[in-house]
Amino acid sequence: MDQKIDKKVVMAIETSCDDTSIAILRNDIVISQITHSQIENHNKFGGIIPELAARLHSKNIFNLIIEALKDCSLNLKDLDSIIVTEGPGLINTLQVGFLVAKSLAYALNIKCFKANHLIGHAYSPFINESINKIPNKAITLIISGGHTIIAIKKNHNFEIIGSTRDDAIGEVYDKVARMLGFEYPGGPIIDKIAFENNNRNFFNAPITNLEGFDFSYSGLKSWVLNHKYENKEELLSSFQNVAIEQLIIKIKKAIIKYNLKYLIIGGGVSANRYLRQNIKKMNQIYSYIPKKIYAVDNAAMIGNLFFKSKKNIKEVKLTDDVKPNLLMET
Ligand code: KG4
Ligand code: ZN
Repeated sequence: MDQKIDKKVVMAIETSCDDTSIAILRNDIVISQITHSQIENHNKFGGIIPELAARLHSKNIFNLIIEALKDCSLNLKDLDSIIVTEGPGLINTLQVGFLVAKSLAYALNIKCFKANHLIGHAYSPFINESINKIPNKAITLIISGGHTIIAIKKNHNFEIIGSTRDDAIGEVYDKVARMLGFEYPGGPIIDKIAFENNNRNFFNAPITNLEGFDFSYSGLKSWVLNHKYENKEELLSSFQNVAIEQLIIKIKKAIIKYNLKYLIIGGGVSANRYLRQNIKKMNQIYSYIPKKIYAVDNAAMIGNLFFKSKKNIKEVKLTDDVKPNLLMET
C-alpha cells in the first residue's frame, strides 16, 4: 500500500453543543468514534446550560481522546492531522475543542484544521462512502436543533435560499415536547409517539407555507400551546405531520425552481422516520440521508470533510479563535 496514503490518520473533535465527540479516520474511513452525551446533566434544567456544557467537555475530552485511540489501537504519535469544529455553536463549548485541538497539534508538531459544523452535516450522508457519490449540484437541507436551512450546493459551495424566520425545527420539537411534559431532546420522543399514531394530523394542525423558501415554526408552536387536547399523543402526531410537511413543500418547490434531481439532508432532525418515509416516496429525486449515528452531532462528519471537501477546511493558526455565528455560505 502507498506509504503516504497509509499515513493519513486524522483525529476529529466536535464540541459545538452538548456532545463531546472524537473520531479517528484513516483514509476516508471512520475507524473509531466515541460520543459522550451530556443530556443527563442538562435534563433537569430543561435545556442546555452553556457553562456547564463547557466544563463537562473539559472534564471528559482527554479521556475520550484516549478511548477513541485505544479503540482503533493507535497512539497520539500515529496522528497525521487534527481537525476541529470552528462554528457555529456555543462559544465556550466550541473553545474547549478548539483549544485542545490547537495545543495537541502544536505539541505533536502536526497540522490542525478547522471546519464548519453545518457543512459537516451537509456531507454526513457520504461518511464511509466514495467521494464519487457526492453530487455536484444538489438541494441541501440542514435541519437541527439550531438551524433550518435550505441551500443549493454547487461543487463545494452552498448558496442559502431559505432559512427559518424564528425557531429551528429541532428546537420546536424540543420545546413542544417540553410543553407536554417530556424530557429533552424531544425529537426522538415525538418521532416515536407520532409513529405509533400513524403520523396522522388528528386535529387539523395548520400548515405554515411562507412565500419563497423561508420556514417558520413559531405559529405551530403556539398552536400546540393553545390547543385544548384530550390526547397528548394525537396532538404530537398532528404537530409532527405538519412540521415535516413544511419541509416537504419547500423541497418540492426547490426541485421545480432549480430543476435539480439530487437532495442532501443532514442534521439531527434528519433521523426522523416520518421525514425519511416522505422522502422515499419522492421518486423524482435521488436523496442522500445520513445513517442515524451520523445524523445527530458527531465528530466523524468533521473528519469526513478532511477527505471529501478540502475546499471547506482551513489550516488553524495559533491566533485563530472559534466562530459561534458562522453560517453555511462559503
Ligand atoms: O444536529 P443536532 O444533533 O444538533 C444541532 O446541531 O443542533 O440536532 C439535534 C436536534 C434536537 O433538536 C433533537 O430533538 C433533534 O435534533 N432530533 C430529532 C430526532 N432526533 C434528533 N428530531 C426529530 N426526530 C428525530 N428522530
Ligand atoms: Zn448539529
